[in-house]
Amino acid sequence: MKTYNDTRLLHGGDYNPEQWLAHPEILKKDFELMDKAHVNTVTVGIFSWSTLEPEEGVYHFEWLDKVFEAMHKRNGRVILATPSGGRPQWLSEKYPEVNRTNILGQKHHHGFRHNHCYTSPIYRKKVQQINRQLAERYGNHPALLMWHISNEYSGECYCDFCAEKWRDWVKDKYQTLDAVNDAWWMTFWSNSYSSWSQVVPPSPLGEHKVHGMDLDWKRFVTDQTIDFFLNEIEPIREITPNLPVTTNFMAEGHDQQDFIPLEGLDYSRFAEVIDIVSWDSYPDWHNPYEPLHLTAMKSAYIHDQYRSLKKQPFLVMESTPSYVNWHAYNKAKKPGMHILSGMQQLAHGSDSTLYFQWRQSLGNSEKFHGAVVGHDNSEKNRVFQEVATYGKRLDTLAAIKGTPKEAKVAILFDWESNWALKRGGGFGRPTRRYIQTLQENYRFFWERDIAVDILTPNQDFSDYALVIAPMLYLMQEDTMKELSEYVKKGGILIGSYFTGMVNENDQLHLGEWPQTLQTIFGLLPQELETLYPGEHNQILYQGKSYQTKDYCGIVQETTGKVIATYSQDFYVNTPALVENRLGQGTAYYLAARTDLDFLEVFYQPMIEKLALQQEIVKDTQPKVSIQSRTDGQHNYYFLMNFSEERQQLELLQPLLDLETNQTLTGLLTFAPYEVKILKKEN
Ligand code: GAL
Repeated sequence: MKTYNDTRLLHGGDYNPEQWLAHPEILKKDFELMDKAHVNTVTVGIFSWSTLEPEEGVYHFEWLDKVFEAMHKRNGRVILATPSGGRPQWLSEKYPEVNRTNILGQKHHHGFRHNHCYTSPIYRKKVQQINRQLAERYGNHPALLMWHISNEYSGECYCDFCAEKWRDWVKDKYQTLDAVNDAWWMTFWSNSYSSWSQVVPPSPLGEHKVHGMDLDWKRFVTDQTIDFFLNEIEPIREITPNLPVTTNFMAEGHDQQDFIPLEGLDYSRFAEVIDIVSWDSYPDWHNPYEPLHLTAMKSAYIHDQYRSLKKQPFLVMESTPSYVNWHAYNKAKKPGMHILSGMQQLAHGSDSTLYFQWRQSLGNSEKFHGAVVGHDNSEKNRVFQEVATYGKRLDTLAAIKGTPKEAKVAILFDWESNWALKRGGGFGRPTRRYIQTLQENYRFFWERDIAVDILTPNQDFSDYALVIAPMLYLMQEDTMKELSEYVKKGGILIGSYFTGMVNENDQLHLGEWPQTLQTIFGLLPQELETLYPGEHNQILYQGKSYQTKDYCGIVQETTGKVIATYSQDFYVNTPALVENRLGQGTAYYLAARTDLDFLEVFYQPMIEKLALQQEIVKDTQPKVSIQSRTDGQHNYYFLMNFSEERQQLELLQPLLDLETNQTLTGLLTFAPYEVKILKKEN
């Protein structure tokens, strides 16, 4: 594993001096203000290609040299980006093939950014050339900390180069047309291929895509994006073999009131080829549709998922010190919120708080996006002052850098299942909500301050006390075997409606559910019904009734024991929750979707039996989140008040306040948004 050479928590962010080269006084002031803001790191070059190479083969590096020197002088570091996210106009004009083609076959003009073809040989060559120049010039500079490759890779291209690559990919995977026709069930609607030339990218007709093909297309898009990335880093690996590379991952969903990991790319595959995971975190704080702590829960979920990709500390590469510009409504962070949200990043395993952006631009798309330095060009405003206070606090927390998090609970998330589940046809189209359902399960643990890793089925989950895998729709044989081994050796596994319904081609199983799954869960699923919004059934569990919603499955128990039954409609008395002992462990199958009230009574005895409860406070509270990191010798606890009210928690043991060095005991009081970081010797 490649790491970077700095013992500090990184504080700083996207810096765009190229926008200010005609204003030397601004550039001078930037560095003075960085000192005042306790900034130790800048990310440069992300969108600088047209300044670095204004004409083909003509390079201008002097301005960037100055940034490196200025940062080095103040013991600061540079994260150097490769500029492929935004190419120069001359490149699009001279080589139109580099512009992306959309699903309707329309070629884009130059446009804004993030719209290049991933396959174009010219683009790949040009990107390598500029990356080589950067690596040769700055590769040995002592201020260079790591590489930031491109920016937020995403999207797809349908040009002839991509279509040809796609055909090769399909040939490589299936070898024969019969195998393709079979895997994608192509006799359906007369789609069978009779020649390889007919294998073209999916058609634009929205939901009416061939299911197996669309699933493979999404796999291909991830592969092709990674392939583009690998092409980008060739000169970088050659010239700077010891420097780590990262690329900034994303989340999505804000204006739909969701905040979830990016769905389009399988980041678990991407994580294998980068050294450090980083992501751009923009929660919708202070929104009108949920209490603050639920926004915090969703943000925590994504931090945990991205941390779990490598089970190592990660970086927050971008976040805003105040507001963004691209939500429908762009709310400022209230006083104190910035520090709280930054500390939450660290609490979940980040070794940085980096911002988009250091300085607000005067024009164009992001002129109203929050920044450390605003249009007032001064440190005398609330946002700058909060950033500076936060930066100063980070200086006292350096011991936390590099420390991992430990979790005994794992939630399994699978990008491929998500792709397959989202496709049209059947069930409740708006209610599948796989990730949101996982977040609902996560919420139970988060509100009780129990750490959770969010893994893919390909990661090793054998050592966890509890593995939660609802709606794991697409299942490979290997995953079934590993789940079975896990339970036999003493694990506790949760499955549900949709679990293991289809194989890796999104095809159902003829006859019965796979034998391995039957043995794990001790039942046979028989029907899965969609409920309309507002429709419910009820399940009886330990003498109480709980409402179901969205999905109700009918199952027939075999070796399993029925521990909850439906009480309404034609479901009456059939199993809603089945418990099955297998080897040393137990598997549960929840046949219906429920609200959190049911999950609470279901999970509570489990966490008690497994002794997973939080160990430092008497009673946990949903609005005060506790997360910890540990270096083995010490545990560092972040206690964070995600509410606008004063809160109290009672410590079970004296702990040291890492920032004030005072020992705290008994009842702790938290002001709104307050964070305390406590340390325990092990
Ligand atoms: C990110 C992007 C940045 C900036 C930021 C604004 O997605 O990487 O370049 O646009 O959003 O929030």
